[in-house]
Amino acid sequence: MTTLPKRVRLVEVGPRDGLQNERQPLPTAVKVELVERLIGSGLPAVEVTAFVSPRWVPQMADNAEVLRAVLAGRCADRGAALPVLTPNLQGFDAAVAAGAREVAIFAAASESFSQKNINCRIDESLKRFAPVVNAASALDIKVRGYVSCVVACPYEGAVDPARPAAVARQLYEMGCYEVSLGDTIGAGTPASVQRMLAACAAQVPIEHLAGHYHDTYGMAIANIHASLQMGMAVFDSSVAGLGGCPYAPGASGNVATEDVLYLMQGLSIETGVDMDKLLDASAFIAGHLARQPLSKVWRALRGA
Ligand code: HMG
Ligand code: MG
Repeated sequence: MTTLPKRVRLVEVGPRDGLQNERQPLPTAVKVELVERLIGSGLPAVEVTAFVSPRWVPQMADNAEVLRAVLAGRCADRGAALPVLTPNLQGFDAAVAAGAREVAIFAAASESFSQKNINCRIDESLKRFAPVVNAASALDIKVRGYVSCVVACPYEGAVDPARPAAVARQLYEMGCYEVSLGDTIGAGTPASVQRMLAACAAQVPIEHLAGHYHDTYGMAIANIHASLQMGMAVFDSSVAGLGGCPYAPGASGNVATEDVLYLMQGLSIETGVDMDKLLDASAFIAGHLARQPLSKVWRALRGA
């Protein structure tokens, strides 16, 4: 029997990865309330928004208002990490002006996806991130890194594990405290995820890697379990299974946080998250989007 981690850190990405894909503009107050409910459920990290171009991702246009309101709100003193995406110095400066204490930079393992997502090559993106990491370090701001398309790319198909491993290493060496490995289109299976993870863990210590698995083919929970078996102890997830990536056509949202929590509870792995409060947050945002949460656990415990 493999020994699984005793404790796992769940990084909630619904307010960013989830909502970025919603076409209908959502009121700023709803986004703020969602983040507060998620923090209130005990999640140790909630990715609040993205300081990206509003022309590229209109739903994130109220980034500064959302972050400011959360930082001034009722959950500000709960100690949760509140990272925001910053693709360049312009986004970083805006995030810092709004009070960010943690940012996330995002690269890709596939050239086509890098081009479509952030309009530059992988090596150009890494050059662009270096001043962001330097500026962050000068201000004592933590930087998390993402690598997208770690298993497959929507434009190029299967991705050789050596590619995400090389990008993860560069982000880590640049100063990212953790690198989150994105199966952006949710095409991975336990076998391909473990192959990818073995290559990445040979370049970056596994304690500094996180799994960010979209659930397009319903494999994310199996992929998380396969990653736990390899010693990974940080996973990104999205309340109600919200989202997708605007530049990954057909990809569905991240694995639902409720479903990941149920898995952890079943494995006696601590997370510090309260299922009831999480389900309330799920129902809250689904109500504002006029649909049911996509999570299986929500359907089992709260569905009609
Ligand atoms: P660009 O057009 O190449 O940028 O976009 P540019 O530097 O040439 O500037 C063009 C215009 O954008 C200028 O405005 C800039 O001011 C503005 P104009 O003079 O034309 O009016 N601009 C900005 N505005 C606001 N905030 C900024 C910013 N930077 C420039 N930070 C850029 C390059 C990176 C900005 C653009 O491609 C972009 O915003 N991309 C974001 C795409 C995105 O958000 N994708 C989804 C998130 S990633 C994801 O979901 C994957 C992940 O979940 C992991 C996984 O699942 O794999 C993380
Ligand atoms: Mg994602």
